[in-house]
Formats: sequence, structure tokens, C-alpha cells
Amino acid sequence: MSDAAMIELIHVKKSFGAVSVLKDISLRVPRGGVVALIGPSGSGKSTLLRCLNLLTLPESGVIRVGRSTMDFTNGHQLPRDKDLAAFRARTGMVFQNFNLFPHMSVIRNVMEGPVTVLKVRPDEARQTALALLDKVGLRDKADV
Ligand SMILES: Nc1ncnc2c1ncn2[C@@H]1O[C@H](COP(=O)(O)OP(=O)(O)O)[C@@H](O)[C@H]1O
Ligand SMILES: [Mg+2]
Repeated sequence: MSDAAMIELIHVKKSFGAVSVLKDISLRVPRGGVVALIGPSGSGKSTLLRCLNLLTLPESGVIRVGRSTMDFTNGHQLPRDKDLAAFRARTGMVFQNFNLFPHMSVIRNVMEGPVTVLKVRPDEARQTALALLDKVGLRDKADV
């Protein structure tokens, strides 16, 4: 294992039917690094991100985020639901259509993940959410 990389993909492959989308992808992202995936529509950028979060399961390869490693090399079993949930609780993805909960206020949307998934106390999650909204200039919209 390479300790310098925070996120690592090793020989990841994913096809949809006859369409091979990820053809042996390896990449490393160092701690604090920022990587941009650039390519035409349909070239597999979203598929790669979905594999990183295990929303899509690759056919083969290894995916590591921090200390969590998911090994899909031939012969390994698919991860159990419990392991998938634990992995996803520690990774995040902002979707192109970001799927906010329309029946909840802005701040409730921000608090939902920490409270429901990470079991953070609501008052603590509210303080963090307010600070984050402040950071992006949306604090006055908290209750919209
Ligand atoms: N769930 C799916 N089922 C079948 N084909 C898919 C699925 N998701 C993506 N694809 C196909 O995989 C290819 C890459 O798509 P995608 O990762 O969305 O590309 P990008 O994000 O770079 O536009 C496209 O040909 C797309 O049609
Ligand atoms: Mg996309």
C-alpha cells in the first residue's frame, strides 16, 4: 500500500454490457490534492466517480480511500452491504443534479447526512452547518 496517496485506484475496470467504459484505470490522489477529470461527454468521468464511492461496483481492480480498501480483483467477493455503508459514510460526492430534499430547509439539508448517517448530535450538526453556510455566503438562507 502506498501511504502518500489518500485515494487510489489500481487497475479498475467497468463495463456496461458490451460497452467497456473504464479500461484499466489507475490513479493516485495525495492527501489534500485536487484532481480534475476532463473528457468528452460519455467518456466515463461520472462512472469513475461513482466507482470511487461504490455507487457503481467495478468488475475488477482495487479502490482505496484512506484506510478503507475494496478489492475487486478476480476471486474476491463483492463487499457486504454493511461494509459498503461504512465505506460510503466516510466518502462524499456532490452530484451534477444535487438532489436536495425539497421538503426541508437549507440547513436541514446540510444537517441530514451528519445527523442520520454519522449520528452527530443535532445541535452540534446545526452549529457546523451554520458555519459552513456562512463560509459560502448562505447563512441568511438557512431557514429558506
Ligand atoms: N448505468 C448505466 N448503464 C449502462 N450504460 C451506462 C450506465 N452509466 C453510464 N453508462 C454509459 O457509460 C458511458 C460513460 O458514461 P458517464 O460515466 O456518464 O460519462 P461522463 O460522465 O464522462 O459523461 C456512456 O457510454 C454511458 O452511456
Ligand atoms: Mg458525467
